[in-house]
This record gives sequence, structure tokens and C-alpha cells, in this order.
Amino acid sequence: MEYKKKIVITGGAGFIGSHVVRLFVSKYPEYQIINLDILTYAGNLENLTDVENAPNYKFEKVDIVDANAVLEVFKKYNFDSVIHLAAESHVDRSITDPNSFVMTNVVGTANLLNASREIWKDSFEGKKFYHVSTDEVYGSLGKTGLFLETTPYDPQSPYSASKASSDHLVRAYGNTYDFPFVLTNCSNNYGQNQFPEKLLPLMIHNIKNSKALPVYGDGNYTRDWLYVIDHARAIDLVFHEGKPSETYNIGGFNEWKNIDIVNLLCKIMDKKLGSEEGTASKLITYVKDRPGHDRRYAIDATKINKELGWKPSVTFEEGLEITVDWYLKNEKWLDNVTSGDYQKYYDNMYE
Ligand code: NAD
Ligand code: TYD
Repeated sequence: MEYKKKIVITGGAGFIGSHVVRLFVSKYPEYQIINLDILTYAGNLENLTDVENAPNYKFEKVDIVDANAVLEVFKKYNFDSVIHLAAESHVDRSITDPNSFVMTNVVGTANLLNASREIWKDSFEGKKFYHVSTDEVYGSLGKTGLFLETTPYDPQSPYSASKASSDHLVRAYGNTYDFPFVLTNCSNNYGQNQFPEKLLPLMIHNIKNSKALPVYGDGNYTRDWLYVIDHARAIDLVFHEGKPSETYNIGGFNEWKNIDIVNLLCKIMDKKLGSEEGTASKLITYVKDRPGHDRRYAIDATKINKELGWKPSVTFEEGLEITVDWYLKNEKWLDNVTSGDYQKYYDNMYE
């Protein structure tokens, strides 16, 4: 079959990437979707068992840091579009191992840009490089204010600095080579399939196992939370209708202090687990703060709303309920992730 588009989605075995892959594979049978991922600890093909046999889906195990391997796979498929999500994504890991963030997020992005330029050298007509980024590039807000697309970059952690560098590279290729790109900066995502090192799945897992709930510092750090499927919907919309060379901020207009989220989660979990109210919150433990911890992030998502008509489809309470139910129902997924068994899936499936 002649596909209408050939799209490589990098990092498609990760948390957000797997939701984007699922959406594109099922919504667009006329597109061929190639999931390019090296399967780090964060890449889990068990996230995609429901689409792995779809005729328009393929998986390629490739490290984006390896320029030759990237070029080879780009030449093999002759992609017309790239949706780039592969990254090292966890701030705490970037504090202990910054170099792997520079390699994957900066060098890896440069390799993808170069491979795209190489295979698109005859014409950029009908080509698109979609770079998925984070609101953390804007730094930390005080008590008021929101991040706009025009807010100057001020990254504060090795993670956000590496993402900011990759954003600069993408825009510089646009400016220098007329390279066709679009870029989005999104707030904190939550939802099913998130690796249990991030706040919400870590707390759900610990409440289930009656383990301490580690709240960093005074717990009054603020994040803007968005349900992952709403992020995937926004990516679909921007991919198809976003203006070339534009940036769109994506967020939920949904700010929460960490301690308030943890308390809300405790309440929901007590109900779901049939425990007496107040049981889970007894597990809350204030621990040493993250170094350089950004105080507050908050996105102004007016532009994507006004220009493209996007808005979140669920409230935070609804999204949280779906998420908790999913983690409680998918014990095997969580057990496999926490025991490391998920990493055997690739060998069983593909080798
Ligand atoms: P994740 O850590 O869950 O997944 C990252 C994926 O990238 C994994 O499948 C991993 O195997 C793959 N990967 C890592 N290094 C690779 C390499 N060298 N070569 C090929 N593949 C590699 O991350 P996520 O939370 O799904 O985030 C996806 C993207 O969205 C990232 O670019 C991140 O910066 C951005 N983002 C995340 C959030 C969030 O809240 N999670 C918010 C805004 C933006
Ligand atoms: P995280 O999920 O790591 O996302 P990010 O750092 O990219 O915003 O953390 C969200 C917030 O929760 C952040 O302020 C750090 C805090 N946090 C805790 O208080 N305890 C934890 O165990 C974790 C993982 C995070």
C-alpha cells in the first residue's frame, strides 16, 4: 500500500510517545508510523501491545545519539515527517547524570535534524519536523505570571537546559536553512503508562504498598498538570494545522501545589482501596529538597486555544480518577516496570 505520509515518531515507547503512536496508528490507517526508540529504562513496548500488530505500524530500535544509525534508518524509510519525543526526561536523573541528557537531548536532536536535512535535500515541500518540548525551558515563575510563547528562556536544571538547547537548535535550523519545523512546549503530563519515578505514579505505587510518600522541601512547589491524552490530541492538531516555524504552549490552566495533589490523591486512594479516610495521608513524609528546584511553572495556552481551537477534554479530577483506576487495574504493568521485567519484552517479541 502507498501510504499518504511516512512519519517517524521518536521515543514512541515512552510515556507520552506511546500515546502519540497509538493515536496516530489508530486514527490514520493511511499513514505509516515508525516508532524509533532505543528502549532505555523509560521505553516500554508493553505500552503498545494493542497496536503492535497494526499493518501501518513498525518499530525500529535505534539510538538517536548514533548519527550513522539515524541516517541509515531515515534513508531506509524516506520519512516525510518527524515527531520528536525521544529524550532523557527526568529532572532528578539529570542532576546525577547530566551528560546523558546532553547526549540524547542535544546531540540526538542534532542528529535527527541532520538526517532530515539530508533526506529532504531536494525539497522541503510536504516535509515537517515537529519538536516536542517542555515548559521547563522558561525557568521558574514567582507567585504570579504565566509562560507565554515569547517568554525568554531561563532553564535551571541540566534537563531543562538540554531541552532548551535542543529547541534553540531546531529554531536555528529553521532560520538558517528554512528547515520546516513546528515546536510545542507543554506543562507536566500525567496519566496511564507513566514511569513510576514521576510524582503521580510514584505516589500511587507507594500508597498501594503502604510506603512513605516523599514530598520534596516544603511541598509548596507548583506545577500545571495536563492529562497525557490531551497532550497527544494537541500534538495531532499542531502536526496537522500548526503554522510552520511557530511555537505553541500547551497546558491545562490547572495549577496545583505538590502537597495539595498528594493530599487529593491520598483521599482518592483511600476510597478506591476501601481504607479509612486519612490512612494514606499518614504516609506523607517531607524529605530533603531537590537542588535548584523550580518553584512554579504555569502555562498560558491561549494561543493554541484561539488559533487551533484546542482545549483539554477532561478536568483534573476526571483525569486523576482515570489514572488511578488504570494503575490499580494494571498491576502487572506496574509490577513488570518496578521489577525490570518489561525490559525482556523486546527480546521475546522481536529477537
Ligand atoms: P519518557 O522518559 O517516558 O520517554 C522517553 C522515550 O525516549 C523512551 O521510550 C526512551 O526509550 C526514548 N529514548 C531515550 N533516549 C533515547 C535515545 N538515545 N534514542 C532513542 N530513544 C531514546 O519521556 P516522556 O515523559 O514521554 O516525554 C517525552 C517528550 O516530551 C520528551 O521530549 C520530554 O522532554 C517532553 N515533555 C514531557 C513532559 C512530561 O510531563 N513528561 C512534559 C512536556 C514535555
Ligand atoms: P516530577 O514528576 O519529577 O516532574 P518535574 O520535576 O518535571 O516537574 O515532579 C513534579 C513535582 O513533584 C516537582 O516539584 C518535584 C516534586 N516531587 C516530589 O515532591 N516528590 C517526588 O518523589 C517526586 C518524584 C517529585
